[in-house]
Amino acid sequence: MGPVEECCVKTQVAIIGGGPSGLLLAQLLQTRGIDSVVLERKTKAHVLSRIRAGVLERGLVGLLEEAGCADRLHAEGFTHDGTLLSYGDEMFRVDFAAHTGTPVVVYGQTEVTRDLYAAREASGGPIAFEVEDVRIEGADGPTPSVIYSQGGQMRRVDCDFIAGCDGFHGVSRQAIPLDQRQEYEKVYPFGWLGILSETPPVNDELIYANSERGFALCSMRNANLSRYYIQCSLSDSPEDWTDEGFWEELKRRIPADQAAKLVTGPSIEKSIAPLRSFVCAPMRWGRLFLCGDAAHIVPPTGAKGLNTAASDVHYLHRALTRFYETGESDGIESYSTDALARVWKTQRFSWWFSSLMHRYPDQSAFDLHMQVAELEHLRSNQAAQKAMAENYVGLPY
Ligand code: APR
Ligand code: PHB
Repeated sequence: MGPVEECCVKTQVAIIGGGPSGLLLAQLLQTRGIDSVVLERKTKAHVLSRIRAGVLERGLVGLLEEAGCADRLHAEGFTHDGTLLSYGDEMFRVDFAAHTGTPVVVYGQTEVTRDLYAAREASGGPIAFEVEDVRIEGADGPTPSVIYSQGGQMRRVDCDFIAGCDGFHGVSRQAIPLDQRQEYEKVYPFGWLGILSETPPVNDELIYANSERGFALCSMRNANLSRYYIQCSLSDSPEDWTDEGFWEELKRRIPADQAAKLVTGPSIEKSIAPLRSFVCAPMRWGRLFLCGDAAHIVPPTGAKGLNTAASDVHYLHRALTRFYETGESDGIESYSTDALARVWKTQRFSWWFSSLMHRYPDQSAFDLHMQVAELEHLRSNQAAQKAMAENYVGLPY
């Protein structure tokens, strides 16, 4: 470690992680005149190169509007009032608008992050990229700091609070002593092979398919950029799948009439994501607050990753604003409880939807009948559809 602390800055909130949750928090705090410094390990280009889900709940859209970052999503995003579920050749629609009066917005997470970077740069808010050796100090005391190096120089940020928005592999969660935190995990015995293709979406709404060959999802980014996923074995690698192989397999898993109109083409991105549920409790330790993937991971089936990160940011932004504007720390005291209460509900929905739509290697004939009976119930029962719709569009904060 070189000579310590060439430079030290003082701010109100040090935000570790320049992904969507860190940037959204920074923008929201900025709208209330609360200063922050964002520290990001990678380059901006690297952060924007990540392909992630793109279904935005009403809560997240509201926060992006509050942060002044929603113009492009309203101009370019798709408003979806429903989604389609299929099993075998059966297909039915869950009408979000009819059941909740609320749509979702289909707009890539990469675009959300791009808009947040643009807002941060326009407001002149500090972001340090390519930071290394990030260390949290004094989070359990009155004057926390974040130490890091950048370009070989040691630097320190003195602050009132630290927001750990550094994802699952970040340093923030590790800063909570092991005996002070509980971790809950469920690993699913399959992954998702996803491709991005410059082809028109097969359908104007998403299709979630449970087929005897496994799960499939037909999604989109815009009118000529589609995103498709198929359930695959965890031992697969993207190289094992040619584009032709992917398209042929996808066609076998979606209803025949959809397969017949599927436009195929070369993939411009192909990757495999494991499916996992993970929660860390508490989400606060002294003056350190965890947000997003730093505290929890959901399987992508319900597209709840970004949306749950946003609900954390909502509770933290509200707690810090209340503290700085009124001196009240009740929001800070209840942050972990408030955030976790909603996290567990979205964990449940993501686990339920994943269990309903995937085929498990050790699935028994009885298990399969349970899936079909649940899908039949969902297809034919308005109350069941309403419950699904309420969770899909986003539970209230
Ligand atoms: N120091 C600084 N930055 C770090 C460090 C570190 N030690 N470790 C990680 N980071 C950065 C990562 O490079 C990344 O850009 O923190 C950022 C965390 O961003 P995300 O992983 O996108 O997590 P989050 O902002 O919480 O967004 C959650 O992302 O993974 C999806 O499905 C997930 O949609 C959800 C969303
Ligand atoms: C996506 O568009 O990438 C997507 C959409 C819905 C999901 C998961 C991923 O449930």
